[in-house]
Amino acid sequence: MAEQDVMEKLVSLAKRRGFIFQSSEIYGGTGSVWDYGPLGIELKRNVKEAWWSAMVHQRDDVKGMDAAILMHPRVWEASGHVAGFTDPLVECKVCKKRFREDALATSECGRKPLLTPGAHEDCDLSQARLFNLMFKTFMGPVEADSAVVYLRPETAQGSYVNFLNVQTAARQKIPFGIAQIGKAFRNEITPGNFIFRTREFEQAEMQFFVEPGTDEEWFERWLEERHRWHLSLGVRAENLRFHQHGPDELAHYAKKAIDIQYQFPFGWKELEGVHNRTDFDLRRHEEYSGKRLEYVDSGGGKRFLPYVVETAVGVDRTVLMLLCDAYREDVVEGEARVVLALAPRMAPIKAAVFPLMKKGGLPEIAREIVDGLRKASIPAFYDEAGSIGRRYRRQDEAGTPWCVTVDGQTTEDGTVTIRDRDSLEQLRVDRSRVREWVLDGLDRGG
Ligand code: GAP
Repeated sequence: MAEQDVMEKLVSLAKRRGFIFQSSEIYGGTGSVWDYGPLGIELKRNVKEAWWSAMVHQRDDVKGMDAAILMHPRVWEASGHVAGFTDPLVECKVCKKRFREDALATSECGRKPLLTPGAHEDCDLSQARLFNLMFKTFMGPVEADSAVVYLRPETAQGSYVNFLNVQTAARQKIPFGIAQIGKAFRNEITPGNFIFRTREFEQAEMQFFVEPGTDEEWFERWLEERHRWHLSLGVRAENLRFHQHGPDELAHYAKKAIDIQYQFPFGWKELEGVHNRTDFDLRRHEEYSGKRLEYVDSGGGKRFLPYVVETAVGVDRTVLMLLCDAYREDVVEGEARVVLALAPRMAPIKAAVFPLMKKGGLPEIAREIVDGLRKASIPAFYDEAGSIGRRYRRQDEAGTPWCVTVDGQTTEDGTVTIRDRDSLEQLRVDRSRVREWVLDGLDRGG
């Protein structure tokens, strides 16, 4: 399948099945902002829960928090974002389109954006000017400079300014981390590729505070840990790789950065960044706030400004990775089918239950099975509309791992069929065992 085809098919599937819609679609859409529908929000919640479970609940040394999106404007001066969070913007004088200069494939004269999506042969580009990616707004009724606030471009700063609050309240000793999941905003010049690069997105970031000198070792440990986490979501290992930033790629705060990249249909791209941020952020916040942010070790009496190893993944990018990795087309009994082979743990709906017919007491039994699943907090779906084949196809596209059918035999011997999305095997189990079977399947399938 051509790369473009896969993305077009995914965008169309995402809309058809209620994963992702264009924001404000009835008004023609908002540029590179997307809304999650009923299935999409479940998938996204599963990603966030998997991250929170691995990063916070399963560890002693990482605590969670949720900082506000709006922060004191000095935070962004201290962090370097006001001065340095910029992209070089160029504009074509002919077609008026705007491009990121550093992302252009240029001709020999260096002026023409050849091969750049949206650009044309005769583009006549302006000089580059630096464009700050932060969205600016005003707090309070007066649109004066004193009231300027920014929509945060990363969640990390909320963890830095709360470093001592969390450390003392949660009685943590270094090394320890602060984890957050939350919205971030960037006024990207060239967003695109569906939910890959958007202007409003969600990040799952963890700042791990360590004693200087131990930072490099912790960097390696976290890089490995994060790679393992992506594999645990069921993606194919050959679609993940590492990319170390060269000196000209490093963000202003980083001493070392390695991306975990995923092979999207449009190429290898960053999924997550692991950064050694040294004491850059804490030191700058000390300078700008005038408050000491040193860690004092109660045992040994050592005082130091910790170094930070950061892991930063995009939640939306992880969703896109899961959709791309799971998308399959095959033929079943002579009929083409589209299937999302999501790991059961990630699937929005775990089981769909169908009465074969709308009579003979079958719908009532099917509803009882759905209720039993829901009582065990298993997302389940009841469907009695259309042929059984069509009902299977709809669930295949939704990524539902198991379909349970209540048929005539159920009223005789109490058994139902369970059909596996991937192997297409069907087996009969007693209707009282469906819940246990699905829970076992979730354990087995990860
Ligand atoms: N706190 C560090 C930081 O924000 P980053 O590499 O700029 O680092 C971290 O962002 C992750 O956030 C990226 O690896 C990516 O997954 C996600 N991300 C960044 N910009 C994004 C955008 N415009 N749209 C969607 N996800 C984005």
